[in-house]
Amino acid sequence: MTALDDPAERSTSSAGADEAAQATVAAPPSGGAEAAGPVRRRWVRQALRWGAIALSLVLVGTLGYLWYASRLPSSYSVMSMGYADYGGGAVPVGGHHHDGGVSVATLTGPSGTPAVAVSLTARKQSFTLASGESVAGYTLNGSSPGPEIRATVGDLVQVDLVNESVPDGVALHWHGVRVPNAEDGVAGVTQDAVPVGGRHTYRFRVEEAGTYWYHSHQVSHEQVKGGLFGALVVLPPGAASPADVVAQVHTFDGRRTVQGATGERRSTAPTGVATRVRVVNTDSGPLRVSVAGAPYRVLAVDGHDLHEPGLVSDRGLSVAAGGRADLEVTPPAGGGAVRVDLGAGSSLVLGPEGAAAPAAAAPTALVDLLSYGTPAPVSLDTSHFDRDFALTIDRWPGFVDGRPGLFWTMNGHLYPDVPMFMVREGDIVRMTIKNDSGEVHPMHLHGHVALVLSRDGVASTGSPWWTDSLDVDEGETYVIAFRADNPGIWMDHCHNLPHAADGMVAHLAYEGYTTPYVIGGNADNEPE
Ligand code: C2O
Ligand code: CU
Repeated sequence: MTALDDPAERSTSSAGADEAAQATVAAPPSGGAEAAGPVRRRWVRQALRWGAIALSLVLVGTLGYLWYASRLPSSYSVMSMGYADYGGGAVPVGGHHHDGGVSVATLTGPSGTPAVAVSLTARKQSFTLASGESVAGYTLNGSSPGPEIRATVGDLVQVDLVNESVPDGVALHWHGVRVPNAEDGVAGVTQDAVPVGGRHTYRFRVEEAGTYWYHSHQVSHEQVKGGLFGALVVLPPGAASPADVVAQVHTFDGRRTVQGATGERRSTAPTGVATRVRVVNTDSGPLRVSVAGAPYRVLAVDGHDLHEPGLVSDRGLSVAAGGRADLEVTPPAGGGAVRVDLGAGSSLVLGPEGAAAPAAAAPTALVDLLSYGTPAPVSLDTSHFDRDFALTIDRWPGFVDGRPGLFWTMNGHLYPDVPMFMVREGDIVRMTIKNDSGEVHPMHLHGHVALVLSRDGVASTGSPWWTDSLDVDEGETYVIAFRADNPGIWMDHCHNLPHAADGMVAHLAYEGYTTPYVIGGNADNEPE
């Protein structure tokens, strides 16, 4: 859609230059009775020179055209971006995804009295980490991470977002939570960015217990990095849950922190009692976690409990960017403490007051979630698929929005010519994600949770592994499946946020829905 230029014009001008060059070359060399040799040599030199000039003009013209055509308009809709991919499933009669439909703005959360009501004020400001260092970044209610939101399954959560001083505007996304589309917080897709002085209310019911997080989805590569995020914990209904502690890992200005503090963070926990440590990777690269002082279990990944997770004593765990892992950690009898090492000098120590924890060695092996835990029945019928999508990630030189560079491609296309995966409500969807790009990509689909079926042709043999943030490493192929049961227009992107800002973004769209919001526009929406 972003053919912003008439290619004919550009090729006409290069052809013109070509002809001019030829005309000059064809002009017979004038000259008298001087030796014919030097004259011929001069003529050949001239011809070569003009040939080279003509060639460079063609080259410059082509590059110029590619540059020109790659520039994004000041405002465009994701509905007309890229191309529709129906995954071998039903194509709507008489049209494709450009046509109208139900506005996603109508897909709001339920009304009623919220069980949990929070007000979050976003600011661009300098603040002090819990460990004392000063950071120029962004805060929610004066701190980063922002306030921890806790709710119980079934609760209606209401968040009033106020933008006091974030000049680019702000929007809050509930990462991993299956909210109605209008509550998803993506500037330019599900809402307009909230300008300075503006406010926006989010309302959604939390249906699944687990560890989630929220973060800005306006200029996210800068705002999340600078601190516009916080944790959202959903507790199971009923009985009092066991002790738990949130460990959001974030790198501010090159300093790795846990819960906003560099170095060792301590949490008092009695000997012999299990604590659930909710690790959230808010950075853009994979996080290596290791535990020293006692064996541990991986209780949950991306908010979803694993089935019969075994004790681990000799392996670490890798958590994808945007992903979460809940670890069960028990300070050993005898008064010792356990260290959950979060890399780059940061760790969380759990144990009785003053107890020392051993240092953790860098993990030499990692838990493989494909075979960890034991199988259990799942609520998804994977015996047939209504849609079968392929998503192959590669890297090619080109232009994105007028910038030359080496860019991530999706199915061979550069942003914004990326696929719009089209589904119909109720579809069972399979997606094969293949990475040939030379770097790991944490793939994140909004609004849905996917079941990992296989990696590199090897079927999952461990616990059902549900994920919303999946690291697909160089050379790997993952097959995942999900049920399309949450209508709307959803982002499907890399959670290495600078990669997303470079165009590693696709969308999942439900037939019959459209968004009234635009990228750019009056609100200057810029989700990545
Ligand atoms: Cu956590 Cu589209 O993001
Ligand atoms: Cu990426």
